[in-house]
Formats: sequence, structure tokens, C-alpha cells
Amino acid sequence: MGLTALCPGTFDPATNGHLDIIERAARRFDAVVVGVLDNPAKRPLFTAEERVQILKEATAGLPNVQVAAFSGLLVDAARQVGADVVVKGLRAVTDFEAEIQMAQMNRALAGVETLFMTTSPEWSFLSSSLVKEVARFGGDVSALVPPGVPERLRERLGGGA
Ligand code: PNS
Repeated sequence: MGLTALCPGTFDPATNGHLDIIERAARRFDAVVVGVLDNPAKRPLFTAEERVQILKEATAGLPNVQVAAFSGLLVDAARQVGADVVVKGLRAVTDFEAEIQMAQMNRALAGVETLFMTTSPEWSFLSSSLVKEVARFGGDVSALVPPGVPERLRERLGGGA
């Protein structure tokens, strides 16, 4: 039986850093489910449907990747899709504290294992929050996000994204 990885995140919006992890996971697992979830610490700019649509367009060329939104706990999403592992990217040591806490909580709650992949160095500075900040002040983010995202940011925020 093949291995399924769940790549969870807020993806508000997806960046090239997220896609780097998704593409690399898709090469190593039989199936990848990209799970759009809510992080209670964040108030998203895009709806879950918009975030799913962006990811579907960006992963259209990856036949073993599916995208879906989930409400509630990550461990319930993992069970729902039959994921063997959760895969997340780590950009720097600053990500580590929050990520290890979540990984250990998910393991304690439901025995869900998390594997971390190191983000490719070219994207290690990138975050959805910074992309939104740059776009909000009119900066060009087109080299940092999948096609279609700068237009959506411009629509939502105004400015010269
Ligand atoms: O892209 P992010 O913001 O780092 O992703 C965080 C996310 C959405 C994976 C996390 O907030 C999450 O798992 N949310 C679902 C609710 C949940 O399970 N919370 C407990 C986590 S231990």
C-alpha cells in the first residue's frame, strides 16, 4: 500500500516556499494531500475556498497531489484522508519551537507522526505574512508566489503587488 503525506498549513496565500515542500513531498510519497486549515493565531486574508483554489492551480501539474480544506483539528484531517505522516517545512531555527510543540501535541493526541523537510535556501526568508506586507505597500511579489497570486493580492489589498 502506498504512503500518503498530509501537508497542512494556513496558506494565506501559498508561496513558492510552500510549493517547494509540496513538490518535494510529491516526489517522495505516493500521494500528497495539501490541507488548508485554520490557525487560530491568524486571521486569514483569503477564504478557505480561495486558498484551496490557489493551491489547486499551483499544483495542477502534480498528479499525486490533492488539495482540500478541513475544519477543526489537524489530527482529524489526517485520519480522514488516511495520512501516514504529516509533512511540514522548516525554514530556520525560529520555526522550530512552535513546530515541535505542534508535532508533539499531534503525536500525543492521536499518534500522528510529523516529518520535517528543510525549506530550500532560496525560499528560507519567505513567509505568507511578509508577502502580504510587501504587497500591501505596493511591492512586486511575483517572483515569490505562484502565478495568479499577485493579481489576487492586488484585488484584495490594492497597491502595486
Ligand atoms: O501554515 P501554518 O500557520 O504554520 O499552519 C498551522 C496549522 C494550520 C497547521 C495549525 O494551526 C493547525 O494544525 N491548525 C488546525 C487546528 C489544530 O489541530 N490545532 C492544534 C495543533 S497542535
